[in-house]
Amino acid sequence: MPNYDYHDALETLNYMKRIIPFTPKTAIVAGSGLADVADMVEGAITLYAHMIPNWPGSTAPGHSGRIIAGTIHGRPVIFLQGRVHFYEGYDMKAVTFPTRIIGMLGVKEYIATNASGAINTSYTPGEIVAIRDHINLMGANPLTGRNNDDWNERFPDMTHAYDPGMLKIFDGLGLKQGIYAAMHGPSFETPAEVNMLRILGADLVGMSTVPEVITANAMGMRVAGLSCAANMAAGVDPDHTLTGQEVLEVVSKSALKMAGIITALIDRLNQE
Ligand code: HPA
Repeated sequence: MPNYDYHDALETLNYMKRIIPFTPKTAIVAGSGLADVADMVEGAITLYAHMIPNWPGSTAPGHSGRIIAGTIHGRPVIFLQGRVHFYEGYDMKAVTFPTRIIGMLGVKEYIATNASGAINTSYTPGEIVAIRDHINLMGANPLTGRNNDDWNERFPDMTHAYDPGMLKIFDGLGLKQGIYAAMHGPSFETPAEVNMLRILGADLVGMSTVPEVITANAMGMRVAGLSCAANMAAGVDPDHTLTGQEVLEVVSKSALKMAGIITALIDRLNQE
């Protein structure tokens, strides 16, 4: 088992650099059901998680573990089809290892996508919401432990964890914005927990993304989060039972919309 430390990351980086002959500017990480968003990557070089030294393999449904390097509208990108989760039993270092490699490759913008439950009742299932801030309730932080100053700051500022420039672009595309609460999972929340999250100010709840966002910020990347509100959170409709299958189905139907938003974002970034 790798330690997912700096030494392991250098080995992984070395391998990736031999296969990918350019420096990606933007990284896109696709969550549950959003793997098809990868179809928009042109001239793709595809790697598989199991081929890459130290790369953690996902056990979650809808997470294929492909890594695709290519371009979108001329912009060099790296696309991660799937991520690993804290609830799979991976520790925070493993969960954020791909984010570390992305940062070390020289990526400037980190775009995380995910599926979530909607706490805010103005959202409808399948809607894509721009994450404008988060609440970390996972009970852990990926930067825990002795700090390596070559890798990240010890105390990164999180005031603008979600890049204001990219949020403005999403605003221009007509997306609503929301606060994402990250829970450990894998059980869905109880209605009482959803109520608590609403009181805390959360609009969306999910089981991913926040560790990556913390790490990407600490490494100096600009971060955006796009969340597909797959279902109304537990208890919003008391007669509704949540299933992982339903989440995947709803999100898959929004994959094209997600791809359109990401392409529009990239067009705007190309003009910067
Ligand atoms: N809760 C947590 N994570 C989720 C949900 C939810 O309701 N829907 C999709 N991911």
